[in-house]
Amino acid sequence: MLRSKLAKRRVWRRVFLERLTEPLHLNALSLLVLGFGSYRSKTAWDLVVRQPYAFGALEAADIALASGLSAVTLIEVGVASGGGLLNLASIADRVSNETGVRCEVHGFDSGAGMPAAVDYRDHPDLYQEGDFAMDEVALRAALPEGTKLHLGPLSSTIPRFLADASFSAPVGFVALDVDYWSSTVDALELLKGQPESYLPRTVVYVDDVALNEHNSAAGASLAIREFNEATPSRRLERHAFLEDRRIFRNAAWIKQTMFLHVLDHPRRAQPAVVHTKRHMENPYLGAPQPKELFHPRRPPGR
Ligand SMILES: C[S@@+](CC[C@H](N)C(=O)[O-])C[C@H]1O[C@@H](n2cnc3c(N)ncnc32)[C@H](O)[C@@H]1O
Repeated sequence: MLRSKLAKRRVWRRVFLERLTEPLHLNALSLLVLGFGSYRSKTAWDLVVRQPYAFGALEAADIALASGLSAVTLIEVGVASGGGLLNLASIADRVSNETGVRCEVHGFDSGAGMPAAVDYRDHPDLYQEGDFAMDEVALRAALPEGTKLHLGPLSSTIPRFLADASFSAPVGFVALDVDYWSSTVDALELLKGQPESYLPRTVVYVDDVALNEHNSAAGASLAIREFNEATPSRRLERHAFLEDRRIFRNAAWIKQTMFLHVLDHPRRAQPAVVHTKRHMENPYLGAPQPKELFHPRRPPGR
């Protein structure tokens, strides 16, 4: 698999633009991490397959742990031949080993490729009906047991999924990759379910915002704007400082990663501080002071 990836010009172009433009010492250190690092450190150093999926899955597992949950759901909407879903299933295994959080994996697709475009908002200049058909038999044979494939139009499969959504394994990561505005509108219904069916902050990777033709009046960006306008209790937006928290800041996926803030989630209304009042040290005062405390421990189960 690595050999076929390395044969692609666009892969080398990406390595050049995202990696060789970064400081030399970081690239040198990353060889050590590649050799000896844990999955968590390899994810931090962008040394894993499908970095945005690995980042999203790990972040979801960490948020689940901090919320006292032991399971989380990871979803790819738009599966095509299934390379991304297979990656997500293997990432789920590694994240479970790293964190102890069980990861359920689901994929959604028509199974028959792209439907017909509605109008210019679907970018018929980029995508066409029938693109990205799936070999369902081959994909089902390759998927690990437990990974669920929901086939059919999103307008049918997503409402069915939401009706059975579990609060014990809330949705923590969604990869949105359905190309059209109209399909992204259907896909975003997935984020309008009961608040407890999500983590209070859920990672959403949006694939179709990076081409030169993509713009805010069409495609996924338009669907996201409409989602935010129509759903005041949910906010899907970029984290303006995410790149400042990454070692390699030039990676394009950072700009494609958003967070769904579930504002009506019960945890969003719980006070953060329970037993201990926070304190800020003042270096200009001589008298002994309590130690600075910004993130007091939450009692178990919160
Ligand atoms: C670009 S492909 C996904 C590629 C995949 N995420 C990967 O990285 O390997 C987009 C997929 O979205 C699916 N799709 C688009 N609109 C859909 C709709 N309304 N209902 C179901 N599937 C849809 C298509 O069948 C197509 O397979």
